[in-house]
Amino acid sequence: MASTLHVNYDNKPCYDILIENDYERFYSVLKDFNLSERKICIVTDSNVAFKTEELVPNIENLCKEVSVFTFPAGEASKNLDTVYELYDFLIKRNFDRNDLLLALGGGVVGDMTGFTASTYLRGIKFIQMPTSLLSQVDSSIGGKTGVDYKGYKNMVGAFYQPSLVYINLSTLKTLPKREYLSGMGEIIKHGFIKDRAYLDWLNDNMDKIKALDLPTLEYMIKRSCEIKQAVVEYDPKETLGERALLNFGHTLGHAIEKCCNFTNLHGECVSIGCVCALKISYAKGYISKEDMEYGILILKKANLPTDIKGISADSVLNATKHDKKMDSNKIKFIILKSLGDAAIDTEITIDDMNESLEGVLL
Ligand code: GLY
Repeated sequence: MASTLHVNYDNKPCYDILIENDYERFYSVLKDFNLSERKICIVTDSNVAFKTEELVPNIENLCKEVSVFTFPAGEASKNLDTVYELYDFLIKRNFDRNDLLLALGGGVVGDMTGFTASTYLRGIKFIQMPTSLLSQVDSSIGGKTGVDYKGYKNMVGAFYQPSLVYINLSTLKTLPKREYLSGMGEIIKHGFIKDRAYLDWLNDNMDKIKALDLPTLEYMIKRSCEIKQAVVEYDPKETLGERALLNFGHTLGHAIEKCCNFTNLHGECVSIGCVCALKISYAKGYISKEDMEYGILILKKANLPTDIKGISADSVLNATKHDKKMDSNKIKFIILKSLGDAAIDTEITIDDMNESLEGVLL
């Protein structure tokens, strides 16, 4: 079992995504980076740091020096203070532009490390080693890096491509079940926006997916990575409308995430946002009632939430205004023209969104 995807940037080969079941291939690939005279800093968080016990002894032989920078797990660490601490850590150890950062963890680790790599000495190389389902199929691919700023999510950042994405599927076995299933929010979204057959496959294989059956996981993660790859290759900086399609379920999903103070996981809020986007796609006459219900059923099958208690429609709608301000005063709402085919709709109103929240906000 092994898969390799070659990702292009500007129509030129840029980096590979390797999908494996352990770290063996990582060590041999790292040899090709010619690091014998270089330093590596593994950046990780307090939940994932234990994995460095396996990695460090194997990497030590391949480079001059390995250090580990660990920060407290969670979105609260995804800010410039952590970036400054990492700068200090690298400066103290004389990291120069030929040295390498290795992001070992979920989306927070990858985004923060990538942003630090993009700015330290005007850019040093970094490798993504995503350990959560969500980061394996989404945030590690496509070069979006950044941190939150004064409560605004991903407000400061840069497009900066990794030198390699290495996915070790076995890391999913140590993820808390809830976090694993939250990643299914983005995966099902890939089916909604790009691939009806994949959506059907997810529906048919949900029991095996939930049981972390390895061949099933391998196919699923490869297919989701392929979908994300095709989108970011075509529209790397989200200027052509294609990459924006990945925001299906995110306008209301992000707003819900903010209103519940990030107490629900990102993929869970995306799932609820997808329900609203499916309802709007039906209300606008794009998809049938059966397709809307089928979409919601798949989210439910993955044990993802499709409704939420304790937040008001006003607060959710108010939170979407930030998206609007950031984009020429228009919300680029992503709808489905059919299952597997998404489009931008700039005519979706606050009333449309309000209606979609009925029965979703309990
Ligand atoms: N996660 C959305 C994107 O990479 O554009």
